[in-house]
Amino acid sequence: MLTHWEGEPVEVLRGLWEVPLLEIHASIGSTNDRAEELRASGAAPFTAVLAEEQTSGRGRSGSRWVSEPGRGVWLSVLAPATRSPAGGTVLPLLAGLAVAGAVEEVVPGAEARVKWPNDVLVGERKVAGVLCERAVAREPAPLAVVGVGVNVRPLPPNAPNEVRRRAVALEEVAGERVSRVLLTGRLLRGIRRLLGTASARLDPEVRRELEARDALRGRTVEAEGGLRGVARGVDDDGALVLEEADGTVQRLRSGRLARVEGMRMTPDEGGSACTS
Ligand code: BTN
Repeated sequence: MLTHWEGEPVEVLRGLWEVPLLEIHASIGSTNDRAEELRASGAAPFTAVLAEEQTSGRGRSGSRWVSEPGRGVWLSVLAPATRSPAGGTVLPLLAGLAVAGAVEEVVPGAEARVKWPNDVLVGERKVAGVLCERAVAREPAPLAVVGVGVNVRPLPPNAPNEVRRRAVALEEVAGERVSRVLLTGRLLRGIRRLLGTASARLDPEVRRELEARDALRGRTVEAEGGLRGVARGVDDDGALVLEEADGTVQRLRSGRLARVEGMRMTPDEGGSACTS
C-alpha cells in the first residue's frame, strides 16, 4: 500500500477528502474487490480505495476495464445501498452525475454528460464509467461498492483507433495537465453529496441536474431486445423513458442499449453496470 500519492501523504489526503479510511495501492486486482473486502469487514460509509494500476479492472457485463499505471483515477467507494431494486439504476446515475460535476470543476467548459445508465461523456466520447456492485441493500449489508474509472492521461499512442473514436482522456479535453488529487477530491465530495442517502428515488432537484446533463435526450435509442424510441429523460426511479414511433411511452429499468443515434458503440458497451 502506498504512503504517498502524487507527492502527498495518504493520511493528509484522507483528511482533505474527509473519508473515514483511505487505501491507495500501487497495484491491485480490482479496487471494487478490495472495497468489497473492507465492506465485509465492517468498514464505514465513504471508505475509499484507489489504485495506480488495476490488473483485473472490471467494466460492466464482465468486460475488462483497462487501468494502466498512473493513467487515470481508479476509485471505489462504499456508499449507502438503496433499499429497493429500483436503486440498482439510481445509484450508477447518481455516481455518473458526481463524476460529470467533478470533471467540469477540474476542467471548466468540458460539458460532461451522463449517458444512461452509467457512462460519462465529453462530446460524444466516454471519459469515465461507473460499476456499482451490491447496489441494493441486503441485510446486514447496507453498503454498496461504487466503482469509478476516469481516463485522465492521454490514451497511449498504440491505442486502437476504435478505442480512440469512442474514448477520451481528460487531459486531451483540457489541453493541459490535470491534477488527479483535485479530481479525486471533487469526485468524493460529489459522491458524498449525491449518494449520502439510501433513497431509491431521484429527488426533483437531482432529476433536473440529470436532465441538464442527459446525453441521450432527444436521440433515437435501441435497446437490446428491440425496443426502440426517442429518449425522453429518466424517471424518478432511474428508468430511461423512451417514446416509441406510435407515441407509446416505455420505461427501460435495466438492460443494454444496442444503438444510439449518432454515437459509436461496441457490443460490450450496453448494459446496466449494477450487479447485486
Ligand atoms: C464501465 O464503464 O464499464 C464501468 C467501468 C468501471 C471501472 C472502475 S475502475 C475502479 C473500479 N474497479 C473496477 O474493477 N472497476 C471500477
